[in-house]
Amino acid sequence: MVPPYTMKLAYTASLLLLAPLTWGVLVAQFGQSAFGLEPLEREPRAHLTDLTIDKLSLLDLHERLVSIPSVSGSEHAVAVYLARVLEQMGLTVELERVSGGSADKPRYNVYAYQGRTRNTTVVVTSHIDTVPPYIPYHVEGTKIFGRGSCDAKGSVVSQIFAVLSLIGNAEVEEGQVSLLYVVGEEVDGSGMSTASRDLNATWELAIFGEPTELKLGVGHKGNYFFELVVKGHASHSGYPELGTSATEILVPVLQDLLALELPLLELLGPSTLNIGRIDAGVAANVIPARAYAQVLIRVAADLALVDKLVRQVVGNVAHLEFKLHATNEPQYIDYKVDGFESIVLAYATDIPNLVGQNLTLRYLYGPGSIHVAHGDNEYVENEDLLVAVEGYRKLIKHVLAK
Ligand SMILES: *[C@@H]1O[C@H](CO)[C@@H](O)[C@H](O)[C@H]1NC(C)=O
Ligand SMILES: *[C@@H]1O[C@H](CO)[C@@H](O)[C@H](O)[C@H]1NC(C)=O
Ligand SMILES: *[C@@H]1O[C@H](CO)[C@@H](O)[C@H](O)[C@H]1NC(C)=O
Repeated sequence: MVPPYTMKLAYTASLLLLAPLTWGVLVAQFGQSAFGLEPLEREPRAHLTDLTIDKLSLLDLHERLVSIPSVSGSEHAVAVYLARVLEQMGLTVELERVSGGSADKPRYNVYAYQGRTRNTTVVVTSHIDTVPPYIPYHVEGTKIFGRGSCDAKGSVVSQIFAVLSLIGNAEVEEGQVSLLYVVGEEVDGSGMSTASRDLNATWELAIFGEPTELKLGVGHKGNYFFELVVKGHASHSGYPELGTSATEILVPVLQDLLALELPLLELLGPSTLNIGRIDAGVAANVIPARAYAQVLIRVAADLALVDKLVRQVVGNVAHLEFKLHATNEPQYIDYKVDGFESIVLAYATDIPNLVGQNLTLRYLYGPGSIHVAHGDNEYVENEDLLVAVEGYRKLIKHVLAK
């Protein structure tokens, strides 16, 4: 692994060229193939409800962001596009280099704020990478489909419109709110980890955007992810005494794992265990020399206890190798705000990767449902994007009043 490094760009400087452009020209540019994109197809969404701030259309921005492929690792184009839009809307924008990508297409986090004050009371954040594969933007009825439409580019546009409208109405001032859009959330949280380590900005409160069905997440389960590898010894199945069957060692271990009483918590429900992959052997008439399993536990509470229970099962089994790949503590966040419902979530977010801050409150909120987020039918409802703008506005005002 190449050690991650950071290179902050004074994005302002590189955009001076754009400064004399009027909005008309800019919109025309966006309308052409400024970023290798085709002009927007307006017709299919004439019936949708839009929101516009200083000629920036929420539906246009959403379409643009969804249309730019940004599978984790390849977020260059979407970051540069987003930075340019935020800059045009009057924010100071920094691109923060995140390791990976290529020399000509580096990966960037996007950090934006008012004026010169980088440390803000609240940071409003989400991610600009998506899971594969890319799915083009399209509209059916009031549903807006496409990869990232919901997870999490829906949150991104709603957050941006909330913040721009608060700024436009002078409801927030410099030093109060910043926007942070990170890469790599869907794989390893490298974007948020890099921001935590190197961005050198301080926040007191954080609002995370992910699909929560417009409710406040009460938290989410942690992870405990491991592999089991059994190395036996092959032989003819007619002479099993000459071999060591890897499956006969692995299967009882898996049964014991399935029988574990894992910790539960009223708030998040039970910890659940999934044996997601099993692989062993070569043929029915050969004693298998090798068996393999991947197991992921979604941890509702007490990660240390989960670790202990698993090790009790897998420890001291001859021929068995236990490889622990990743652990994440369950996250318990703030969710009590008047006017918002709450929701229990079974998916992981960047929340544990934002470290090194003394955050007094953390909220998780966004349009769309996780149930469609990684599927090939990923979509967000038009109306949810608009409701989320209002939701983020309320949340930001709520936390600033603290
Ligand atoms: C962090 O920012 C402050 C100004 O806000 C600056 O004085 C300091 O040198 C910066 N530290 C690093 C490591 O960049
Ligand atoms: C902003 O935060 C950084 C990192 O915590 C700190 O080094 C710096 O002094 C802060 N700047 C101001 C102006 O408070
Ligand atoms: C968090 O609080 C601790 C203890 O008060 C302090 O030492 C540290 O600098 C704070 N960190 C930030 C980022 O403000």
